[in-house]
Amino acid sequence: MLKLGIIGTHIITDQMLDAAKTTGKYQLTTVYSRTIDRAKEFGEPYGATEFYDDIDRFFEDGDFDVVYVASPNSLHYQQVRKAIENDKFIIVEKPAFVNPREYSAIESLLAAHPKARLVEAARHIHTKIYNEALKKIHEMKADHVQGATINVMKYSSRYDKVLDGAEPYPNIFTLKFAGGALMDLGVYAVYGAITIFGEPDSVVYFPTLAKTGVDAKGVAILNYDQFTVTLNFGKTANSYLDSEIYGLKDTLVFDSIFDTTKVTYYDADKQAHPIEAPVEENSMTDEMNDFADLFNNPDDEEQVKKYKHWLALSKTVNSVMYSLRQSAQLTFPADNDQE
Ligand SMILES: NC(=O)c1ccc[n+]([C@@H]2O[C@H](COP(=O)([O-])OP(=O)(O)OC[C@H]3O[C@@H](n4cnc5c(N)ncnc54)[C@H](OP(=O)(O)O)[C@@H]3O)[C@@H](O)[C@H]2O)c1
Repeated sequence: MLKLGIIGTHIITDQMLDAAKTTGKYQLTTVYSRTIDRAKEFGEPYGATEFYDDIDRFFEDGDFDVVYVASPNSLHYQQVRKAIENDKFIIVEKPAFVNPREYSAIESLLAAHPKARLVEAARHIHTKIYNEALKKIHEMKADHVQGATINVMKYSSRYDKVLDGAEPYPNIFTLKFAGGALMDLGVYAVYGAITIFGEPDSVVYFPTLAKTGVDAKGVAILNYDQFTVTLNFGKTANSYLDSEIYGLKDTLVFDSIFDTTKVTYYDADKQAHPIEAPVEENSMTDEMNDFADLFNNPDDEEQVKKYKHWLALSKTVNSVMYSLRQSAQLTFPADNDQE
């Protein structure tokens, strides 16, 4: 049983703990929160026994193997640094880091701490149905893929507070915490494009800004040698559009790229063929299983191969996200930090 520590006590941590329980491979032991009261309130119902409001003591004294980091985006870097320095297995929520400078520093630190492992919680790429769909796309690629349109647009109830002018604005709508549509939802679309087509040759992002300065929604174009991929994402509107991968005469349709429950292949004769794969009730279960396999066998050849692949993917996503922001002159305070 992997002993689990957590940073961040909001809804996504409940979902992760539900998934962790389903796997039967983790037990929550240790909670860090900004207040001890909150740490206990959140952690006791899950059976946690250690509570900290000092992050250094959490890492140095806490009895856990794996830390799950689900804090606002701009805090991931410093918290993950401490986790690596304490040789932990780390699951960091997406988007792992704000820019390539942070990513490079983390890579160097990982090299200096060979027992530590770092994975990004890009839950969608671990699901069985997503991986079955990737196999199908691989078959289509041989037949001249024509690009894709990926949609990830969901109204955030937190935007109500921005519209109301109720400061302080929710973290996810602030530059300080590296928020905005690209960082929050666009990351799923970028992961989608990169797992399917690899790294693009060039990218451009056309954002619509919220009054807080972050991107509220936007359209990104990823240019590849023979085609383009259009990403449409946002937090200030609801889209009911599917996402589509285009072959020459055939098309693969995802009901959602990040909460995939249904994928349909339409052949050249416009006949629909569902992609068959089991779908877990909690979309974080597959990733928590994958991560447990790695943490329980960190030096196993197959696990090392997967780990290297996930890290490389995560780094490419980070780099493409940064290039997209640069194309739109969107900067965060974290971009100017020297440490
Ligand atoms: N994979 C997914 O499906 C998914 C879904 C949602 C979010 N996420 C990711 O999870 C992370 C957290 O997102 P969220 O929406 O939960 O963020 P959030 O509500 O803004 O904050 C998460 C936690 O961080 C702590 N926190 C809040 N404000 C803080 C501040 N000013 N300074 C220090 N700590 C603060 C709080 O924990 P304490 O009060 O206990 O200190 C809070 O519970 C993000 O990286 C996000 O992208 C992933």
